[in-house]
Amino acid sequence: MDYTKHMDFAVEKTRENIKIFKYGFPMPQSRDYNYAPEACVDWTSGFFPGMEMIAYEYTKDEEFLKSARFHAEIFRHRIDNKIAVNHHDMGFLYSLACVSIYKVKGDEFAKETALLGADQLMERYNPVGRFIQAWGNMHDDTNNRLIIDCLLNIPLLYWASEVTGDEKYKNAANAHLDTTLKVIIRDNNTTYHTYFFDKKTGEPVRGQTAQGYSDDSCWARGQAWGVYGAALAYHYTKNEALFDFFNRVTSEFIKRLPSDYVPYWDMVFSDGSDEPRDTSAAAVACCGILEMSKYMDCSKYLPYVDKMMESLGENYTSKRLSYPSNVILTDGMYSRPDGHKPEGTIFGDYFYMEALMRLINPDWHMYW
Ligand code: GLY
Repeated sequence: MDYTKHMDFAVEKTRENIKIFKYGFPMPQSRDYNYAPEACVDWTSGFFPGMEMIAYEYTKDEEFLKSARFHAEIFRHRIDNKIAVNHHDMGFLYSLACVSIYKVKGDEFAKETALLGADQLMERYNPVGRFIQAWGNMHDDTNNRLIIDCLLNIPLLYWASEVTGDEKYKNAANAHLDTTLKVIIRDNNTTYHTYFFDKKTGEPVRGQTAQGYSDDSCWARGQAWGVYGAALAYHYTKNEALFDFFNRVTSEFIKRLPSDYVPYWDMVFSDGSDEPRDTSAAAVACCGILEMSKYMDCSKYLPYVDKMMESLGENYTSKRLSYPSNVILTDGMYSRPDGHKPEGTIFGDYFYMEALMRLINPDWHMYW
């Protein structure tokens, strides 16, 4: 399949957006299919710099790199001044905004900045429960939980151990991974979004959703975080328990896809439902399958990558809109329980571009 026309479209949107987001960052979701700028204060601020780096690697146009480097300076200001970093999303932020530049250009400033992000993430490690606390102040009883999304944050810790030789990062990541694998998947191969632990004993207590339909449903992006998180963790750990986890979450994700291969926002919904889709979940899952196909036989999953990516590229981009838009993928769902409507999501756009890059250049070195 020729993915270059889809990548060219994504790169041109990114080029247009460099002007709008010179000093700022796209908000997590668009409004009327246009992202507005905000300061570097969200968990999503790293996605646009990540897109700039993919666009740079694809085109070799220095404008993209220049803008990404400028954004990395803002990330340094953020971590130096501890602005909106009291949460676990340091990986989404610093892997994409800074590890990217270090991996592509060997940039020491970007490396040091990403290591500061890793140190910040270490502060959220709870040794009693052996997990990284997602949200809220540490030692706050109402927030003693991990969330499946964190599987995308622990690669920053593995990377930090690799570049510093200090195993403390890797040890925390491994403990968090073990705990996650124990609690996050149900017997029916669907996943919890978040899981609480007893504050005193560290024993698992119960699962609860935040962005899914119900506590026992299958939030599509959460399931996709499981798919990609398993592949990334395997990349760093070579822990073979991850094959089984990956097979279970990926088979279930694929089994629950509707006929056009773009999931509903929660996978309790399928063909015939009036509920919205979540294009971002498809893009995340594609990245996960493509990464894991380097380590195990994924021949039964890879045809679905083509089906999902073709459906996204042909039917779910802003080309289909009758008015100007600065988003790439339409029909992303940030948080349905918060009343959100289908919109562009900057994470959906990032993972779609990453999946395109992986398909066009299988030797591409990821930023995670
Ligand atoms: N990590 C937050 C989300 O997936 O919306």
